[in-house]
Amino acid sequence: MLGEGEERAVIDVLRSGQLSLGPRVEEFERAFAARVGAHCASAVSSGTAGLHLALRAVGVGDGDEVVTSPFSFVASANAPVYERARPVFADIDPVTLNLDPDAAAAAVGERTRAILPVHIFGYPADMDAFESLASRRGIAIVEDACEALGALHADGAPVGGRGHATVFGFYANKQLTTGEGGIVALGSRELKERLDSERNQGRAPDMGWLDHDRLGFNYRLSDIACALGLAQLSHLDSMLAARARVAALYRDALASVDGLTLPCEDAGGVRRGWFVFVVQLPRGVDRDETVRRLVARGIQTKPYLPAIHLMSFYRERFGHREGEFPVCEDVSARSIALPFFPEMSDAQVERVAAELQAQLERRS
Ligand SMILES: Cc1ncc(COP(=O)(O)O)c(C=O)c1O
Repeated sequence: MLGEGEERAVIDVLRSGQLSLGPRVEEFERAFAARVGAHCASAVSSGTAGLHLALRAVGVGDGDEVVTSPFSFVASANAPVYERARPVFADIDPVTLNLDPDAAAAAVGERTRAILPVHIFGYPADMDAFESLASRRGIAIVEDACEALGALHADGAPVGGRGHATVFGFYANKQLTTGEGGIVALGSRELKERLDSERNQGRAPDMGWLDHDRLGFNYRLSDIACALGLAQLSHLDSMLAARARVAALYRDALASVDGLTLPCEDAGGVRRGWFVFVVQLPRGVDRDETVRRLVARGIQTKPYLPAIHLMSFYRERFGHREGEFPVCEDVSARSIALPFFPEMSDAQVERVAAELQAQLERRS
C-alpha cells in the first residue's frame, strides 16, 4: 500500500542529494523504536543482516550453540552459522507453531550462548517462558520478529519492546516494506553503538571515514529506504488493519471446511501481526498435489514452511534426519500458504476458500 506520502518522502530524499548516511536513518530509528516501545533501534539492510549483528552483539561466536525453531524462514538458522556457531533446534508448539519453551529448555546445554525464538507468522512467542529460561541458564535472547510487526503480547505491549535485541524485516511482502531492509530494536545505547558501527564497516561514529576500529560489514539501510519506512510507519495501523480484515474474511470463509486447521486464534490478550494466512490440510490429503491443482486453477498457493533441519544444507552440515522434530515435521508437511495481501476483496477470499474446499472434497 504505497501512496502519495511514500512518493513525496522518497522524492524529498532524492532532491536532498543525501541518499545514504543522512538524517532519515536516525528519524526512522527513533520513530520505529517509539512504535514498538524499545529504547532505541538500529536500521540495517535486511532482517538477515539484523539477526547476524544481533547475535554478534550478544556474544555468539565460534563453537557456541543457539537454540532456535526448525519451523521458520531459513535465515534465523543461518545467522548463527555465519559466526561458526551451531543452531540447535527444538520442536514447536502444535498450536502457536512457535518454539516450545519446554523443548527449548531441554535443548539448552553447556555451549548454549543464546535462545532465538521466532514469532512465526506474526504470532508472539511465549517470551515470559523464554525470559525465565534465559535468566536461569545465564544466556541471551535474540528475537526474530521479521514476520511480527504489529503483534502484541498478552499485556498489550508490542513485540520488540522487552529489551532484547529484536529483529524486524522489511522485505516487500512484510507488514511495512522498504523493498529490502530491516531494523533491530534494542534495549540499550551500548548495543546500538556496536550495531551502528558493525553495520558501517566497523567505523565508530566519531572516527574519520577511512578509520575502522573493529570488523564490520556493509549492512546499512539507505536514506531512501528509511524515508519509505517513515512514511509507512505513519499509517501502519491502517496497513495492519487491512491485513487483519483479510484474515477475518478467511476465517469466516474457511470455518466450515472439514478437517482444516486454521491459524490459531489470538488468546489471552495476545494479538497476531498478520503476515501470511497458512492452513494445515487434514492428515491423509496429498498436500503437494492439492497445491498443484490449486495453482492450475489460478490460486497461487505454496507449501509453507519447509522444516529447516530437513533442508539439504542442514542435513549435510549437521546430520539432521526425519523424525527429530515430529511436531514441526507434521505441521510442515501439511501446511500451505493461501494468497494473502491487504487489498484482497471479499470475492477473492471467497473464491480461494471455495476452490480449496472443492479440492478437499474431491478426495472424499
Ligand atoms: C522469520 C524470518 N526471519 C528472517 C527473515 C529474513 O529477513 P530478510 O529477508 O529481510 O533478510 C525473514 C524474512 O523473510 C523471516 O520471515
